[in-house]
Amino acid sequence: MKKQSLIIDCDPGVDDAVGLMLALNAPELEVLAVTAVGGNVPVSATSRNARILRQVAGRTDVPVFAGAERPLVREPAGAGEFHGAEGLGDLKPFEPQGALASGPAADAIIDIVMARPEKSVALAVMGPMTNLALALRKEPALAARLGPVSVMGGARSEGGNITASAEFNVWADPDAAAEVLASGCDVVMFGLDATHQVRATDARIAAIEAVDSDSARWAASMMRFSQRVERKIVGWDAPPVHDPCTVAWLMAPELFTLKPCDIRVETQSDLTRGHTAVEFRVAPGQARHRWATAADGQGVFDLITETLKRAAS
Ligand code: RIB
Ligand code: CA
Repeated sequence: MKKQSLIIDCDPGVDDAVGLMLALNAPELEVLAVTAVGGNVPVSATSRNARILRQVAGRTDVPVFAGAERPLVREPAGAGEFHGAEGLGDLKPFEPQGALASGPAADAIIDIVMARPEKSVALAVMGPMTNLALALRKEPALAARLGPVSVMGGARSEGGNITASAEFNVWADPDAAAEVLASGCDVVMFGLDATHQVRATDARIAAIEAVDSDSARWAASMMRFSQRVERKIVGWDAPPVHDPCTVAWLMAPELFTLKPCDIRVETQSDLTRGHTAVEFRVAPGQARHRWATAADGQGVFDLITETLKRAAS
């Protein structure tokens, strides 16, 4: 089987954790590194959480790099109410085995990608795009060298989840998002239009709870936490599980519908900060990006469950 080489940039974060459990248990993927960014919780916590989660998945072979503590320009913002104060839902963090790899995340992304054949390394971005923006500033050739950049972020028809206009990852660092989208990277964006179709229903979580592995237990626990919190805060019975979509697309692209487009980000207005203007009216040859307009939610959960089941057997 030809493996897809992959770097995962994330801010775990309960749905990031599910995305990591999927990727770190998938034989189709060669996870070369995990890079952490400040987002849901500070980078001191997201980088610790990434080390915890790789240990839970039995993958302490995968290096974890700490990245940006704060957005390029804006003040750091968190989302602890949706992820738990420590970013792991109601699971208690512990001091994991295996130290952080040395050097900042941006340098790791550059070094790993530039040392491999062109377009051979994909990047899944599950948090604010600060690390990738910093890497592109330092090495602009990265944009052409990278394979697909599968990003969870943005909103179009769904409206925002942190403001009326914006989704959290892009709102948290709109300047980084704007720079990444202008860089020439092959960005495939999984905004709320798609991720709101991937919801953790009781039945879907129960199917993961039936898998006898620590990865499955941790993934299910995160989603049970999301269920409780989103019921309380948003009134949803089945919370959307956003970040695994970035990995699921790399493994099973048929689960998503993509449209060529041109995406720009609002960075001037406070009212609409982080709004993603997704323009489909572009000549096909001019479309710089792709936007996910639909997702097969059951298919994504079947992929997660089957991947965890296979890894546990
Ligand atoms: O808006 C959803 C995104 O914000 C997800 O990546 C979630 O982890 C939070 O970071
Ligand atoms: Ca995230």
